[in-house]
Amino acid sequence: MSTVALLDRIPSLRLLDPAGRWVDRRLVYQDPAFLALERRTLWPSHWLAALPLEDLARPGAVVPLDLAGVPLLAVRDAESVRLLSNVCRHRAMRLCATAGQHQALTCPYHGWRYALDGQLLMAPQRARELPDLDPTRLRLAEVPSTELAGLLLGRLESPGDAAPRSFPSDSDDPVALVAKELADHDPPTLPVVLRRTLVAACNWKLLVENHLDGYHLWYLHQRSLGAYDHRRFTSRFRPDGTWTSFEPLRPAAPPPSGLVPVPNLSRVGMGAHLLFPGLLIVTTPWWLATAWLEPLAPDRTRLHLVVRGTEGSDPEALLDDVLGFVREDIDACEAVQAALGSGVPEGPLARTLEADLVGFRRVVAEICGAPA
Ligand code: FES
Ligand SMILES: [Fe+2]
Repeated sequence: MSTVALLDRIPSLRLLDPAGRWVDRRLVYQDPAFLALERRTLWPSHWLAALPLEDLARPGAVVPLDLAGVPLLAVRDAESVRLLSNVCRHRAMRLCATAGQHQALTCPYHGWRYALDGQLLMAPQRARELPDLDPTRLRLAEVPSTELAGLLLGRLESPGDAAPRSFPSDSDDPVALVAKELADHDPPTLPVVLRRTLVAACNWKLLVENHLDGYHLWYLHQRSLGAYDHRRFTSRFRPDGTWTSFEPLRPAAPPPSGLVPVPNLSRVGMGAHLLFPGLLIVTTPWWLATAWLEPLAPDRTRLHLVVRGTEGSDPEALLDDVLGFVREDIDACEAVQAALGSGVPEGPLARTLEADLVGFRRVVAEICGAPA
């Protein structure tokens, strides 16, 4: 079946079986049509990480970026940080190609100039060539934005969608809920100590499912996460896909050498969280890591990893501590992807320790497939 035909058919398919297993694993992990559907329906309607706020440190900072295929500009003007469309309102050329400091945004094609809040300031030869143009009525579209874990997030909204969803209280807002879990680490004041971009040869959902899986902690991470008490792992998955979890450090665990703890923690252990669909967050007593996923292809995912920690920590020790278990996770997900060709289906899932990954699948299935 062609990708286009399949794309039309997926929304009528039942994607999950009653036990929470994908009915057709090759479809959801390998098929370009499924990724195209996710890009159309799932990614635009949720908060997506754009970049660390440090990249917009000074007024006038402009950074071009791509959010789920949409070209945007992250901009700091004198008052605030915002995400603007990076497409000129004249002949729809990409406006800005490189990051830099700017007082205004000038399109290289015909010189239209915009203020940093997106307002069109002037169009060359306007009086003669564009006498009816009213610059005050033309501006670069602004994408709703917010902040979490020291990152700027944007929400594209699906076409025809109204204003961004508002929440009656903080407890309903996924960003506020996750922010509460991170309050101990106070991300805006914790400096970025490590940045890495990794590419994993697997579907993005395998990385999320692995993040939500409490069952593998004892085995895959026997050494790298042996300091944490997995028997006391607790988690909360909400029907909108927001996930939070925590497990304490074992009292007898020797402190890792070279790492300086984050001061004044109210809980000492590992927290792992998800802002649906693709922002993974981990906290330990020594650092806070955010990794946002960017699907490049059904079997390729870019991970943007940003680690915040204490100034006194040794960079090498930090790298070992973070990448130790992240590498193990990526290797496992790549090995699952590589085995898809076998056609062997999943067996039974662990009742509690894999329940949250089933929750995640249900949210994806509800958005992309037929009602269960
Ligand atoms: S496309 Fe930007 S000024 Fe013409
Ligand atoms: Fe893991």
